[in-house]
Amino acid sequence: MTHFLDIHTTDPAALRSIIDQARTMKTARQGRPRGAPDDDQPLAGRMVALIFEKPSTRTRVSFDVGARQMGGETMVLSGSDLQLGHGETIADTARVLSRYVDLIMIRTFDDSVLTEMADHADVPVINGLTDRSHPCQIMADVMTYEEHRGPIRGRKVVWCGDGNNVCASFLHAAGQFGFDMVFTGPPQLDPEAGFVDLARQQGVEVTIERDPARAVEGADLVVTDTWVSMHDSQSSKERRHTMLRAYQVNDALMARARPDALFMHCLPAHREEEVTSSVMDGPHSVILDEAENRLHAQKAIMRWCLGV
Ligand code: CP
Ligand code: NVA
Repeated sequence: MTHFLDIHTTDPAALRSIIDQARTMKTARQGRPRGAPDDDQPLAGRMVALIFEKPSTRTRVSFDVGARQMGGETMVLSGSDLQLGHGETIADTARVLSRYVDLIMIRTFDDSVLTEMADHADVPVINGLTDRSHPCQIMADVMTYEEHRGPIRGRKVVWCGDGNNVCASFLHAAGQFGFDMVFTGPPQLDPEAGFVDLARQQGVEVTIERDPARAVEGADLVVTDTWVSMHDSQSSKERRHTMLRAYQVNDALMARARPDALFMHCLPAHREEEVTSSVMDGPHSVILDEAENRLHAQKAIMRWCLGV
């Protein structure tokens, strides 16, 4: 079974072929209305289940539109609508859904839910975000970087703020695509040490730098994300904001990066918190291309999972 669970657990050649296919498919449908079908209909006759145990705008809409552009049918299910949210086991849910649908995308909390789903499903499972990682986002981000600036290999990516799930997938991508990473944030919010070690073992440089101004020197790409993720308790908000305030991405910080540096944010953003509007809407920002590329990257991921 070809699941797409994480970037570090997917073969680098497969990752590259997914990005290449995404670019080809994006080019092929340029200028068409969003609802127009692709010339190729590789998902014709296929049913895709999209399960959300957390809110979503981009993941929900981009998977739904993408599957339909390729001729597939979709159903969007919220965790609480399913018996999954009322005590049925993940394993039983996976076995049953496999009798109805051809592909499952799930956004959930603990990553054990994702792996249990994948262990028991007879159809491919795609990770649409867990508390621990967000691989589809970073596939779109790598695609976006390369569209604007060419190969990401050897580049310097600086992550500012919380070493969260999106940061984790960036670290996974660093090892697999061969770019260096600097994490700048408070020690309490460091990324998982195992993910840092893994990237280093794969031969890329990963640096922890507490001073954000020093961290962004020479950066090719500056990235941040919300200071309070969906899995973080609201009661931690004030404490997190206090710890993270010094890591806001603003014009002064961007000015220390390379003049041609890009700025990315997976969105949703909290303007004037982790990033200022001047950066979000400024010349370095590629946030809308990132959002659009979720569509193209995930179409290629679905094709790869289904082998079509
Ligand atoms: N970036 C991202 O995954 O956005 P959503 O939470 O809106 O899906
Ligand atoms: N880190 C964020 C990403 C949202 C797409 C969260 O998990 O809420």
